[in-house]
Amino acid sequence: MKAARAAIEPAAGGEVAVVMTMGALHEGHATLIRTARERAEQVIVTIFLNPLQFGPKEDLSRYPRTFDADLALCRRQGVDLVFAPTPDVVYPDGDPGVRVSAGPLGDVLEGASRPGHFDGVLTVVAKLMHLTGGTAFYFGQKDAQQLLLIRRMVRDLDFPVRVVSVPTVREDDGLAMSSRNTYLSEADREVALCLSRALAAGAAAAAEGPSAVRRAARAVLVAEPLALVDYLVLVHPTTLKDVPEWYSGEALLAVAAKVGTTRLIDNRPMLLGPGGGPLEVFDGTGA
Ligand code: PAJ
Repeated sequence: MKAARAAIEPAAGGEVAVVMTMGALHEGHATLIRTARERAEQVIVTIFLNPLQFGPKEDLSRYPRTFDADLALCRRQGVDLVFAPTPDVVYPDGDPGVRVSAGPLGDVLEGASRPGHFDGVLTVVAKLMHLTGGTAFYFGQKDAQQLLLIRRMVRDLDFPVRVVSVPTVREDDGLAMSSRNTYLSEADREVALCLSRALAAGAAAAAEGPSAVRRAARAVLVAEPLALVDYLVLVHPTTLKDVPEWYSGEALLAVAAKVGTTRLIDNRPMLLGPGGGPLEVFDGTGA
């Protein structure tokens, strides 16, 4: 732990922005870094493939590792420091006995399919917040539930840091960028487009209310039988509970599906009800 902390000498004064990643960096990560760069004195990127957040049957062993290209991307984006510890630096005593518990919000949606995942995420995020000494931490809307839980942890446990969210970065055809997209064959990639298309169809119906959104999104997904849908939900952005039919206001349309061997997630924030429509991100206190 000491060695890890000694690796980082935060600049005195000014904002120290941190972008945490698991490597295999793409334009989504680069956008987080650029957003941080515009605002902060110093920008730190962490690259750490956190074993604690992967289940025993998940893709830790095949997760793409592109360290040299990651470093080159960080250099191009003007990153001041890359912190890329090995697991024995982050977890010197092996798997930690004491962990951050995500609580009930960690048991739904992604958490229902990936038990323990968010405890693993929050534990490493808490550690990396301490180890980097950052003052502002940038996370992507792409992982909406992760972002919400990190905001909750910071608030519930009084971490003296700021959390900044950045809208999802997409390929030209709408596919949300993800390190896991490299697993997709050309045919899989075509199938995968149904996720972003379903969300776009849902968002286009936002003014008509929840059932119209759900109906529009579901229609796109059922037309693509090769996408094995885990969930498609329209939920409140901070409780993650299904919004009732009378609801108007901010909501999150979220989807998870398996395409080939790859589990993909995507989401769209939106404003439901008269005058409603897609949102880039929620406007502050919410997710
Ligand atoms: P990773 O999947 O590498 O993502 C790192 C950060 O980049 C997260 O905040 C994620 O939401 C953001 N990101 C990924 N794809 C994005 C996209 N298309 N548009 C915008 N932002 C995007 O998320 C993790 O790593 C880990 O769980 C981590 C937080 C590092 C903890 O281990």
